[in-house]
Amino acid sequence: MGEMISMIAHQWRQPLSSISTVAASIKLKLSLNRFDTTTKEQEEANKLFLQESMNKIESYVRFLTHTIDDFRNFFKPNKQKESVTLSQLVNRTLGIIGKALEVNGITLHVQTNTTHEVLTYANEMTQVILNILKNAEDIIKERDVKNPQIYITLNSDKTWQIITIEDNAGGIKEEILPHIFAPYFSTKTEKNGTGLGLYMSKTIVEEHCGGQIMASNGAHGALFTIKLKEDATS
Ligand SMILES: Nc1ncnc2c1ncn2[C@@H]1O[C@H](COP(=O)(O)OP(=O)(O)OP(=O)(O)O)[C@@H](O)[C@H]1O
Ligand SMILES: [Mg+2]
Repeated sequence: MGEMISMIAHQWRQPLSSISTVAASIKLKLSLNRFDTTTKEQEEANKLFLQESMNKIESYVRFLTHTIDDFRNFFKPNKQKESVTLSQLVNRTLGIIGKALEVNGITLHVQTNTTHEVLTYANEMTQVILNILKNAEDIIKERDVKNPQIYITLNSDKTWQIITIEDNAGGIKEEILPHIFAPYFSTKTEKNGTGLGLYMSKTIVEEHCGGQIMASNGAHGALFTIKLKEDATS
């Protein structure tokens, strides 16, 4: 139960901070009197801005709700799998964290070389990709990387559907590489990291989805590889 609550809290941090970013941008506009309605165009632009802000908040709240359901299901057998393509998984994740990456000036490159579907726990897999992207964002900020980039590639071979995610923040120190998937392992300060992100990700990929997750160092930064079978009976 305690572990489940920690996991929910962990997964809620990003969407909650996204919601507060949207609220802050509305408040900022208000305080600067940017909701001018003297012309029809201004009024329309204001409406559009508010509409889009509310849509974003709704989608973040949907994600929060999903997270609770996901974790209720986390330890249950017979939960429902979904057929999704790797790019659908990536796009769902970008719906949650895409804006934050953009705000931080991070350029994202997605290369799609496979359109096969995998039968998997799609929401749980979305959380895995979210954790990896969030870590990339954290390290890019921590090391103040100039011209930050994240490369996502979607590939397949005979056995696997493969997602790789690489950043350009210089990589994971060799001495900590064997430990990063352990529960509560974090190099971030107490306040900023629970060290549960990659542990949860490994549990989801390997124990629930019958796949594999690995970390290594690529040419420019950390390189995470997730392998899923088209139809894993795990
Ligand atoms: N892209 C990366 N580049 C360099 N180091 C990384 C990267 N991703 C993860 N790490 C290292 O792995 C550690 C464990 O990551 P994990 O996501 O499990 O926990 P965390 O990010 O520290 O905490 P939380 O996920 O609660 O924010 C991190 O503290 C960091 O040292
Ligand atoms: Mg993390």
